[in-house]
Amino acid sequence: MRLEGKIAIVTGAGRGIGQATALRLAEEGAAVTCVDLALADRTAAAVEEAGGKAIAVAADISTSEGNRRMVDETVVAFGGLDVFHANAAVQFLGLLEATPEEEWDRMHATNLRGVYLGIRHVLPALRARGGGSIVITSSLLGLVGDPDLPAYGAQKGGLLALCRAVATAHGPENIRCNTICPGDVDTVMNAEFFEHQPDPVAARKAITDRYPLRRFASPRDVANVAVFLASDEASYLSGIDIPVDGGLLARIY
Ligand SMILES: NC(=O)c1ccc[n+]([C@@H]2O[C@H](COP(=O)([O-])OP(=O)(O)OC[C@H]3O[C@@H](n4cnc5c(N)ncnc54)[C@H](O)[C@@H]3O)[C@@H](O)[C@H]2O)c1
Repeated sequence: MRLEGKIAIVTGAGRGIGQATALRLAEEGAAVTCVDLALADRTAAAVEEAGGKAIAVAADISTSEGNRRMVDETVVAFGGLDVFHANAAVQFLGLLEATPEEEWDRMHATNLRGVYLGIRHVLPALRARGGGSIVITSSLLGLVGDPDLPAYGAQKGGLLALCRAVATAHGPENIRCNTICPGDVDTVMNAEFFEHQPDPVAARKAITDRYPLRRFASPRDVANVAVFLASDEASYLSGIDIPVDGGLLARIY
């Protein structure tokens, strides 16, 4: 039990990476607040079925109100906060010239501004416990480019800079901040990307073949890294980005 007695919030916990992280944090002993637009209940129920402690908060993390409520409800239910996993995001697929302003703004509201709002709201609660760990889900696309995801990539890159600012500002308060940069992960979001390609099956195979490990990550592969960064085992890591990419970045040819 690497997180016995800890209290965590996970955003975007209704499915995919957030759901897997909520389950893994609870397996390691943390009480977990599962935050999502509409799907938080089912993850909280799954955590409890597995013997863990969880609450569900239906909230939109692109709003101050949603972020305030997720913190307030966590403190009321569990008495504090130690870990914040800022994970919720949305994507719009298309080249830059095919990306309408409204889509850029909609994505920005959740993917970058929403993380800023979340961190603003969790900091007092982390400080009150004498420190804590913030884990941000960025993406490999914050480090490298994808023609079909210009806004998403820009926002994910922004998270890397935000992480470093938070790590440097709040390290003296024993608050660590790190990002996870996953490659392809088998989730609904990832499936939508391939559905957008002219030949989804061929596109998926071509990309899978570029991974040294010859497979996409499971949500649990990513959740394991989030658990590590949340735990005291990562007590001297702050301000870094961890690619979780099956070795993809290691290759040029
Ligand atoms: N799947 C991948 O291949 C991949 C790769 C790299 C990074 N990521 C990142 O991992 C994270 C999780 O992705 P996923 O693949 O599990 O996505 P997903 O779409 O399967 O799940 C995302 C969840 O976030 C929730 N959500 C979206 N906007 C929200 C908001 N405003 N407020 C509250 N909840 C909101 C959705 O309801 C959904 O349950 C995201 O940050 C994503 O950018 C995913």
